[in-house]
Amino acid sequence: MAEQNPGETGNSQRGLNVLVSGAAGGMCRGINKRLGRAGHTLLCVDLDLERCQAAVDELRIEGFTAHAFAADVTRQDDVERLRTDVKAVVGEVHALINAAGVLDQKMLLDHDVDSFSRAIDINLVGPFALIRAFAEDLLAANWGRIVNVSSIAGTTGYPYPSYAASKAGLSNLTRSLLVDFWGTGITVNSVCPGVVDTPMVIQQVRDQVPHKVPTGKIIDPDEIGALISFLLTNDARSINGADLVIDGGATQIFQWFDQAQG
Ligand SMILES: NC(=O)c1ccc[n+]([C@@H]2O[C@H](COP(=O)([O-])OP(=O)(O)OC[C@H]3O[C@@H](n4cnc5c(N)ncnc54)[C@H](O)[C@@H]3O)[C@@H](O)[C@H]2O)c1
Repeated sequence: MAEQNPGETGNSQRGLNVLVSGAAGGMCRGINKRLGRAGHTLLCVDLDLERCQAAVDELRIEGFTAHAFAADVTRQDDVERLRTDVKAVVGEVHALINAAGVLDQKMLLDHDVDSFSRAIDINLVGPFALIRAFAEDLLAANWGRIVNVSSIAGTTGYPYPSYAASKAGLSNLTRSLLVDFWGTGITVNSVCPGVVDTPMVIQQVRDQVPHKVPTGKIIDPDEIGALISFLLTNDARSINGADLVIDGGATQIFQWFDQAQG
């Protein structure tokens, strides 16, 4: 069947209905604005309705169309209610951006099973739950975009194992879903950022950026938004199952000497 992009072949003024999890977070400030500028309707989901509504209010002031929803993406009942509520507001969802996440800065000996499991739940089970909840709708439309916000920590080793393991799992979940959406206009990709300028990033890491990142710069959330915005277009229809690394070159270089010294 020919691919149909509702944003191009339907009511193009309306754009796509895009559900963004973790929408009250730092990176989503950039993601939401880019998607708003592209004319999409934002369905903003986060744990806390007040924070989510504040993010939506900011978007509306800029003239974008956005709606706030509260849900814990690790809870099946919350996700099911979210699907019902979202459908009541916009009808159908065309794209899912899984950006909700947590960086639990615990090394092995600081973790126990509960803390490790919670990180896996938020970073891996949550995206699965949202994709599962909306998969049949995307399949029925025969078109869709799924973007999982993973991390370079999922492709390299990292001192915080719950984060690295959950993001590695998320990137591989991405690839594994290609079979389910075979022959449709639905693509599934991961975006793997390096160090992005959000409250998640501590000062010690920020200070290291000029020495560890070949561009010498921390990444602006707007850059992540630009990449995701492109992935939602028809021009990106053949980008599928990719881990799109956006890290200023950090993971591509083995440093033989310490940039701090010379
Ligand atoms: N900041 C970075 O440098 C960086 C780098 C690589 C990847 N990432 C990833 O990007 C995404 C966004 O990160 P950020 O920097 O904006 O962090 P953030 O902490 O500012 O935002 C994360 C958001 O997710 C929400 N959230 C957490 N658990 C949730 C749950 N169970 N249900 C619903 N929402 C939940 C939080 O309330 C928060 O608003 C995360 O997945 C993170 O792992 C960030």
